Amino acid sequence: MANELWNERVQRAQQITAERKGIDISVMLPPRNPSADGSTHRAAALVAEVVSAPVVADVIAQAEAVVEAATPVAVAEASAPASEAAADRVAAAKAKAAARAASNGAPAAPAPAAKPAAAPRLAPAKTAAPAEAAPAEVGQSGMNRREFVTYAWAAALGLVTLEGGLATFQFMYPRFKEGQFGGKFSLGAASGLPPAGDPPRADPDGKFWMVTTETGPKAIYMVCTHLGCLYKWEQSNNRFECPCHGSKFSREGFYIEGPAARSLDQFIVEVEAAGVVALTTDSEEGAIPPTVPSPDAEIRVNTGKRIQGKPAADSPAKGTG
Ligand code: FES
Repeated sequence: MANELWNERVQRAQQITAERKGIDISVMLPPRNPSADGSTHRAAALVAEVVSAPVVADVIAQAEAVVEAATPVAVAEASAPASEAAADRVAAAKAKAAARAASNGAPAAPAPAAKPAAAPRLAPAKTAAPAEAAPAEVGQSGMNRREFVTYAWAAALGLVTLEGGLATFQFMYPRFKEGQFGGKFSLGAASGLPPAGDPPRADPDGKFWMVTTETGPKAIYMVCTHLGCLYKWEQSNNRFECPCHGSKFSREGFYIEGPAARSLDQFIVEVEAAGVVALTTDSEEGAIPPTVPSPDAEIRVNTGKRIQGKPAADSPAKGTG
């Protein structure tokens, strides 16, 4: 009895395997003859007894059903007729196991429904679409830790480079606001300038003396051309005098006497009238102020552009003090 069950199960397994792999069952080796030797016979008898046990048979039947149900969905879809046949075989195997268990006195396992196998196995194939789309969503919006650190370093490096470039540009080409030393100072209409012959007017913020000469307005830098002291206007002597080493300069900024090597420096004055701008120009004789065409002309001093005074030896005021 045990041998018959064993042979039947082996043949059944061969048949199922041949159907799945699509090979001819006739080329497969016949089952081994359990009577060839005593050990094989005993082993086969033991296996048959174990297999025929009610609990083991039921477990084997359920395992077959689980393996069948776990067949990949793609394979199930590609070979739907074969899967349906396999499901029928599993159901038949389960029914047979239940009948065998009942004949051995064990409580029969509930027989599964014969045909729901196709629909439940195909159902996961429909729900598999979102699972396949998930990696694409992660690839589009997700970022692993290494990528995040790389991007963060690149952004920080770019920011530092940009700030360094801006700082270098500002150092090489400084820009000053109006009214800030280094920028332009608006003095209003020309009528507001000190009259010709009057004492110079100091502008401490712009660091210049504003003076009106016979040829035009001048903005004279307040720093001595000797060693950089701030000279003063001496009304009693009608000239500029440096308290540090005694250099003296005329009202127009020309060198008179002292250790200074040149006349005083001047900033460029802009005179704008009717949309036309005239500027202080440089020449061999010294800075030439712009002419003022009308009292309402706008006067500006550009402290960012300075014209150096001419050598003391060339000063028209040398030795006049
Ligand atoms: Fe003015 Fe020396 S700094 S004379």
